[in-house]
Amino acid sequence: MNRLAGKVALITGGGTGIGQAIAERFAKEGAAVVVTGRRKDKLDPVVHAIERNHGRALAVAGTVTEEAHVRSAVEQTLRAFGTLNVLVNNAAIGSFGKVMHEIDDATWDEVMAINLTGMFRMTRAAVPELIRAGGGAIVNISSVGGLIGFPMSAAYGATKGAMNAFTRCIAMDYAAQGIRCNAICPGLVETPMAEGLLQDETRIAGVLDAYPIRRVGTPDEVALQAVYLASDESTWVTGGIFPIDGGLTAH
Ligand SMILES: NC(=O)c1ccc[n+]([C@@H]2O[C@H](COP(=O)([O-])OP(=O)(O)OC[C@H]3O[C@@H](n4cnc5c(N)ncnc54)[C@H](O)[C@@H]3O)[C@@H](O)[C@H]2O)c1
Repeated sequence: MNRLAGKVALITGGGTGIGQAIAERFAKEGAAVVVTGRRKDKLDPVVHAIERNHGRALAVAGTVTEEAHVRSAVEQTLRAFGTLNVLVNNAAIGSFGKVMHEIDDATWDEVMAINLTGMFRMTRAAVPELIRAGGGAIVNISSVGGLIGFPMSAAYGATKGAMNAFTRCIAMDYAAQGIRCNAICPGLVETPMAEGLLQDETRIAGVLDAYPIRRVGTPDEVALQAVYLASDESTWVTGGIFPIDGGLTAH
């Protein structure tokens, strides 16, 4: 407890799944949290749950594809809590089920705009504030799809591979200003994004064969790694790409 006391964190896609678990964990550890996402009806319950547990939280609805929303999220964070210490780039969409030559331009562009350009815009808006705060932490929620190949996942995998490269470059650019940047690469986690696969009993059995720890992960197991990377327990850790995947990529 209190590993993030005094810190202010902005978490994109914080209304559901892994982002929600990170918001709740961060709040339990003493951080004030701002959750962003497209749907206010998903964000408000997260804020209320945190407030009921005597935490501090704010919801800012909008899409990471709009520069105005991204700037407003950072501005509202400063107005509400005075500073920004941690950015978690978690918002993303999945895009699975087609081999590469069947992916149309609109799908490709949307996945790039949210998963990759959205992360870039949010990071660009946050970094000056992290510098003003005397340093901070950026935690990127990537995927094992950025580390190894999966069939029918080319657009999604391309964004996550790029996210890992981006993470390393940001670690280089801002280490001198005290900003650390790391990425977490979850394997299959029980969230709305994975719902379709999790409900398909035949496919899921085959998928789990590849996991030495033969189960899917929980959002909270990812959130615990995010706490570590956001906290002062990891002050010598930057540019790291961390699989949290039940051993999937240990093969
Ligand atoms: N669930 C898994 O198996 C798994 C595995 C590896 C990585 N991930 C990654 O974890 C992260 C969280 O995903 P999740 O599994 O919790 O699924 P999820 O669908 O519950 O979460 C994604 C969140 O991003 C938000 N979002 C989507 N588009 C947005 C936009 N344009 N602007 C703002 N917010 C937007 C959604 O509203 C949602 O809250 C993603 O980056 C995902 O790629 C998930």
